[in-house]
Amino acid sequence: MKAVIPVAGEGTRLRPHTLTKPKVLMNIAGKPMIHYIVEQLINDNLVSEIILITGAMSEMIEKYLRKEFNFKFTFIKQEKPLGLGHAVFCAKTAFRDESILIILGDTLFDIPLKEMISNNYSVIGVKPVEDPRRFGVVETDNNGFIIKFVEKPASPEVSPSNNAIVGIYKINNSKLLFESLEYIIERNIKTSNEYQLTDALSEYLSKGEKMITFKVDNWLDCGNKESVLQTNAYLLRKMNLAYKIKGSLIKDYCYIGKDVKIHNSIIGEYVSISDNCIIENSIIENSILEKNCKIENSILKDSLIGEYAKIRGQKNEYNIGDYSEI
Ligand code: UTP
Repeated sequence: MKAVIPVAGEGTRLRPHTLTKPKVLMNIAGKPMIHYIVEQLINDNLVSEIILITGAMSEMIEKYLRKEFNFKFTFIKQEKPLGLGHAVFCAKTAFRDESILIILGDTLFDIPLKEMISNNYSVIGVKPVEDPRRFGVVETDNNGFIIKFVEKPASPEVSPSNNAIVGIYKINNSKLLFESLEYIIERNIKTSNEYQLTDALSEYLSKGEKMITFKVDNWLDCGNKESVLQTNAYLLRKMNLAYKIKGSLIKDYCYIGKDVKIHNSIIGEYVSISDNCIIENSIIENSILEKNCKIENSILKDSLIGEYAKIRGQKNEYNIGDYSEI
């Protein structure tokens, strides 16, 4: 089996950070998002190759992964972000008839991947949600086989179920999947103006293939600021690190990188501080600081702070990009 990780989206919901770095390189609990996904795939010995579908700033992702992991990576460029279906289709040349594991680049999972993959049928990860309007959803028959996909249903009432697709798919017949993707692209079949993977999967099912769902309890979305901070908190809780720094209070569930200087400050809970940051006379809660930030005389919470950003004498919730100064 080979994995495909599409990371070519524009990441508009995470601007301004995604104007200077790809979303998947944003740090969460001390490591870029993509690190967690790739590490799990490699450690669990699940795939023979990882294919990344990249867009703008692809060289940054390639450089990072080649430095961190000694594994077979293939990088394929999606020239324009025409949708997830199109992104996966870009991987066609890397496949003969191996099965395909698709994992979205901005979604972390705390699940037994091996168990999901070991199922004989093709499998899609789902999670019950209250409001399915933002998601692709699945309808299943009495035996648990998927019979229908609906992309972003107009209301909970018209949605065939509340089982949202969470961004992890194991598809046995990759040849048929690529044919199904080609089918929708050639006929210009789009939903919300994008070539959707779900539209191709409807075509795939119509050819008699069987798919089932796998319940994903710990789905850690990283698509916007709130979900990034929630995922950061979840991972920090799990890591449960403890720090002692003289003259400052470091509360539970924090991550502090290399060569960080903290003076007369209160940090935590749920704060990730990347390498080389300087923090003086400040209080920081539930936030992520990228490398080389300087925070002085400030009170920050619920914030995402880009690399080399400087904040002095402020009290607020921030979402500021690299090199910003306030
Ligand atoms: P999203 O739609 O959630 O991410 O795609 P996005 O487009 O990057 O972010 P927003 O919506 O503008 O904020 C889910 C995954 O699919 C990839 C994205 O990179 C992300 O990992 N994707 C999406 C592609 O690779 N190509 C596309 O054309 C669309």
